[in-house]
Amino acid sequence: MTQPKLKSSIAILGCGDVGSTLAYTLIMQPICSEVIMVDLKKELLEAQVRDLSDSTYGGRSGVKVRAGTHKDAGQADIVVITAGAKQKHGESRLSLLSRNLHILESIFSSMAPISPHTILLLVANPVDILTYFARKLSGLPESQVLGTGTSLDSARLRGILAEKAEVAPSSIDAYVLGEHGDSQFIVWSSATIGTTPLHLALPGKLTPEFKASISAHTRGAAGAIIAAKGCTSYGIGNIAASICKYILFDSRSVRPISFYQPELGCCLSMPAVVGRKGIIKSMPVLLDETERAELEKCASGLRGVIEGAEK
Ligand code: LAC
Repeated sequence: MTQPKLKSSIAILGCGDVGSTLAYTLIMQPICSEVIMVDLKKELLEAQVRDLSDSTYGGRSGVKVRAGTHKDAGQADIVVITAGAKQKHGESRLSLLSRNLHILESIFSSMAPISPHTILLLVANPVDILTYFARKLSGLPESQVLGTGTSLDSARLRGILAEKAEVAPSSIDAYVLGEHGDSQFIVWSSATIGTTPLHLALPGKLTPEFKASISAHTRGAAGAIIAAKGCTSYGIGNIAASICKYILFDSRSVRPISFYQPELGCCLSMPAVVGRKGIIKSMPVLLDETERAELEKCASGLRGVIEGAEK
């Protein structure tokens, strides 16, 4: 893994719970040399910049945190978009679309002209649909526009399977693909623990009921957290920071990331190699018949939402 450029900047649009948690994670690791925070709420922006800056003085990371404009953000190495309405208790991510698409459009008109080298990372929901529109609004190449997608759902899946199998989450190789939302699906057919197929690692356990309960867990994880604390922030903050690291360090990690799927006509998560130029390449994935049908259903649902929003 190469080290990041000495001078590397990440702009975070939206400094609420997710944006500030991401900034804090970038500082603590550290992942870049400068964090530019942008928000229309000036008082909140200034307070977050001061509080985050305070977290840099004691350590040795040397990360500089500053407030910036949308125009400044458009010149950063990575622009992370967290700005937007957040999911409320009982609400689906898709219900945020009209509010957050409107915000996205105004962000891009204020950010222009965007540096042709910038990588855009969408975090706000519904992330797959916003990634699709960000690609159009930014004019950047497809490979430079990505969304956190189901990386977080896949982490949640690793967490629950690790508990069941009593092994470390990092030893689980299992993906949630498709929508970061209700139509997501688990690729059971190729899931492994180490090199051992899941059905051998969890003998007799992979019943339809077990699979349904694990799917319900990953699909409902955010909702359960939101019901109790009003938002999710640490999980997504950490996932977004990891993706920034894969990009700046050119790590070439294979992750389930949301990006444009030409053959499906929408953005959704599939495994991809992530590096300095964004999506370096997509990785072919073997799906069984059921999973293939789930993917088609998921893509057709997302295409329907895109068509509705384009009218
Ligand atoms: C979650 C939000 C980021 O799943 O959608 O936690």
